[in-house]
Order: sequence, then C-alpha cells, then structure tokens
Amino acid sequence: MIANLGLRYLTMAGYVCTIAGGKGGVGKTTTAVNVGAALQEAGHDVVVVDADLGMANLGSMLGIEHRASLHEILAGDAAVSDALTDAPGGLTIIPGEQSLEAFADADPAKLRKVIKTLRNAYDVVLIDTGAGLSHEVAVPLGLADGILLVTTPDDVAVGDTVKTAQLADRIDGDVVGVVVNRVTRHTDIAEISERLGFELLAVIPDDQEATAVEPLVLNAPDSRAASAFDQLSESMAAMFFRGERAADLETVLEETWFVDETDDDEEEEDESGGVFGLFS
Ligand SMILES: Nc1ncnc2c1ncn2[C@@H]1O[C@H](COP(=O)(O)OP(=O)(O)OP(=O)(O)O)[C@@H](O)[C@H]1O
Ligand SMILES: [Mg+2]
Repeated sequence: MIANLGLRYLTMAGYVCTIAGGKGGVGKTTTAVNVGAALQEAGHDVVVVDADLGMANLGSMLGIEHRASLHEILAGDAAVSDALTDAPGGLTIIPGEQSLEAFADADPAKLRKVIKTLRNAYDVVLIDTGAGLSHEVAVPLGLADGILLVTTPDDVAVGDTVKTAQLADRIDGDVVGVVVNRVTRHTDIAEISERLGFELLAVIPDDQEATAVEPLVLNAPDSRAASAFDQLSESMAAMFFRGERAADLETVLEETWFVDETDDDEEEEDESGGVFGLFS
C-alpha cells in the first residue's frame, strides 16, 4: 500500500478504489454511483467501471444507453475510449452488458490494462464488482489502491463480507474500511463493526424513496441516504487525496437519519440498543 501510494504521488495517477462485498444486493452499485457522483460534484474527475461481468447493471441503474461496453473491451473488440460514457453530473462510466454471450467472451485478466489506462486519465477510478468470490471479483480486488467493503446489517451479508475481506488479504489487497448500508434504528452497528474488524467508514440509512432516483446525491440531495453518502464521499476524498487513514476519520452519522416517522410508540423500548446505542 505504501509503495502504491508513493508511486501514485510521483506519477499523479488516479486512485483506484474497488467496491466489494460478498453478498448480492447489499448496495455495492448504489455506493459506487453515489460516491462517484458526489466526488465528481466536488470537482474530481471520476470514472465508475462496471466490473460485475455476470450481472452488469450500472448503466441501467442510471438509465444510460451506451456505445461500447467493458465486455467488448475485455473481448478485444473495443478500445477503452469507445466505452467512456457520460453519466449525470459529469460523471463518466464504463458500463457492462447483460448477455451471457458477452460474459463468455470477456477476459477478466485484461482488466488490469484497462484500469491502468483509466488511472492515468482520471482522479478516481471506482470499480464496482459482483457478489461472490470468483476470479472476476479477485482481479479488481488485486488492482485496487484501496478496497471499500459494503454490507447490509444481516448476519449472512456480514459473514460473506468477512469472506471477501479474507480473499482480499490473500491477494495482498488493502481494505480501507466498511460501509454498512440499509441501516435502521434497530441495527446493532457496534456488534457488526466488531465482527468485521475493519474501520467503519459510513452508516447509510435504509431509504427506499431516495434510492429509486439514482444517483440520489444529485436527484434527492436532501434525503437521509444522500447526506450519508455525501459524508462517505468526504471521507473517501480524505483518503484518496490527502493520504489519511480510515482510523483517523470520524464515522459521521446523524440520529435523525434513523428515525422512521411511521414508527409508533410501541417501538420506543428499542431505543436503548440498536443504532441509538452509538449516540449515548
Ligand atoms: N440505503 C438503501 N435504502 C434502500 N434501498 C437501497 C439502499 N441501498 C441500496 N438499495 C436498493 O437495494 C437494491 C440493490 O442495490 P445494489 O444494486 O446497489 O446492490 P449490489 O450490491 O450492487 O447488488 P449486486 O450484487 O446484485 O450487484 C437496489 O434496488 C437499491 O436501490
Ligand atoms: Mg451491483
């Protein structure tokens, strides 16, 4: 990591961050899109790469049509420049495609060269990955300056995230921290954080309304989830550009993010535990 950082400062190459997490549907793509859009809005040039080769959905989450895909680059049928696609807020993405045929032709090993090209042109390269522990996940873990793990609070997701961290460790990947997504007032964050054993970079509230309009940091900027993603992005910027360590950053979260207005008094008794334990 130190060697990586040194090289990065010398060459002024961009920071490569892989966003990973063992379980499907925990919010990896949502996190990539929102951190990307927030960093772009803050004035950094960001590209988000959909390296979830089996189940690519970055483009469709943003409602974007594309000319060429990562799959075509990895199959040797397109250049990186062909697949650079404009996304909301000035963000750039490299989308994937969904056909099984495209998946079969794409060679994950070629991703190294793609990322090398991108890191020379962008301040930040965010790599969105798929679930599981396959080769197509291992490759981007091995290419990253820093790995961000995303999990939801449930036991299975946390357990799968521990496995992703173990895979990262085997290939000398550097996990910079964890995001716990879809948190409610009942979530025992302290316990999850202890189980994971990594710095908690952000706690994102469950916010279904906001996540229907991605990127929510642009389309629902006043939402609770957008506030949380903005905070996360500031922490990421501190790590990417100022070399700060996650351990030195504060996990910023606000009590109001976790108050569900539809909750009634019968749930009051939970207030001593759950996420509110962090505020006492
Ligand atoms: N904080 C949140 N609150 C409510 N819904 C959310 C939140 N974060 C993500 N979601 C929703 O959860 C679903 C899965 O999110 P997303 O696609 O980002 O997960 P993923 O980890 O990338 O999944 P996959 O492993 O399939 O790629 C989406 O419908 C998304 O809108
Ligand atoms: Mg995804």
